[in-house]
Amino acid sequence: MSVSKLPRNFYKPLAIGAPQPLRELPVRLERVIQFVPGHNEKVLSKVPDLAKQVDVVLVNLEDAIPADAKDIARQGVINVGRNVDFGSTGFWIRCNSLASPWAFDDLAEIVAAVGNKLDVIMLPKVDGPWDIHYLDQLLAQLEAKYRVGKPILIHAILETAEGVMNVDAIASASPRMHGMSFGPADLAASRGMKTTRVGGGHPGYQVVADAEAGKQERVRYQQDLWHYSIGKMVDACAANGIKPFYGPFGDFADPEGCEAQFRNAFLQGCLGAWSLHPSQIEIAKKVFSPDPQEVAFAKKAIDAMPDGMGVALVDGKMLDDATWKQAKVMVDLAKLVAEKDPARASLYNL
Ligand code: GLV
Ligand code: MG
Repeated sequence: MSVSKLPRNFYKPLAIGAPQPLRELPVRLERVIQFVPGHNEKVLSKVPDLAKQVDVVLVNLEDAIPADAKDIARQGVINVGRNVDFGSTGFWIRCNSLASPWAFDDLAEIVAAVGNKLDVIMLPKVDGPWDIHYLDQLLAQLEAKYRVGKPILIHAILETAEGVMNVDAIASASPRMHGMSFGPADLAASRGMKTTRVGGGHPGYQVVADAEAGKQERVRYQQDLWHYSIGKMVDACAANGIKPFYGPFGDFADPEGCEAQFRNAFLQGCLGAWSLHPSQIEIAKKVFSPDPQEVAFAKKAIDAMPDGMGVALVDGKMLDDATWKQAKVMVDLAKLVAEKDPARASLYNL
């Protein structure tokens, strides 16, 4: 028999003096999560400007930060947290994994110094709900000790085979769960996939049409390596009321490939992606803001069925209650985009 918390206790603070866990996630636009290396002073000095261009600034402490720069990177987070006004832009960190010798200091020192500024902690290499429970408890203790006024949320990276197996339990582990990002690079390594890329497709992963007599060339199509796992993540997140994201796309010289990968994730239900390079900011904003033509159609659908029930015909297309709900997802997202992004607001005509 599996033992779980009583529903009544699920929303209680885990430490005396910790803030009340949230029942609903804050409504925020998070199309683009810009990664910033915590040890690179030059890049850190650009954070005030970056914060005006992106939806989330994430200071990275984990992979890509050398072992001998972990302490400097942690100080980088603290400086940025103390000195930057983020406005409506999110301030996140990616801490080191719980199995590393750095994670404890990351959490203890950063919550002590800037816990009231920090919105979300991205936790890498989450294998199961036990990782979330540990971080949940520790954050409650730190929040109580340092008088943090609102709960710091947890965002898991789905990047191990074990994590994919346990994705539903991870999504439902705590009211602190904000969402999840799909991490194709670590996941590939964890699964023993025979690739060396950070996200995107692979030319070897194809289906080939049957040979036809008299035809030399057989039609081949590249397939989506990530479809199954992203779909599984989106279902786990949607079912638990938390947010799914696509993670990194490593080939900066291939904006078209990046856009295609982001768009597949968007159409499958993801709300944003990581940007590892300034050139990916606009790609993410474009992809994760709904298409103005689709929004225009969605508005017509809603106008045609004001109470969201029944059946209507718009531009020759049949609509019913379910199409109305799809249209509402699109228009609600467009409204959120319009609030933050005046350039796009004019395209939506809301
Ligand atoms: C991200 O961290 C990844 O491993 O893809
Ligand atoms: Mg990773």
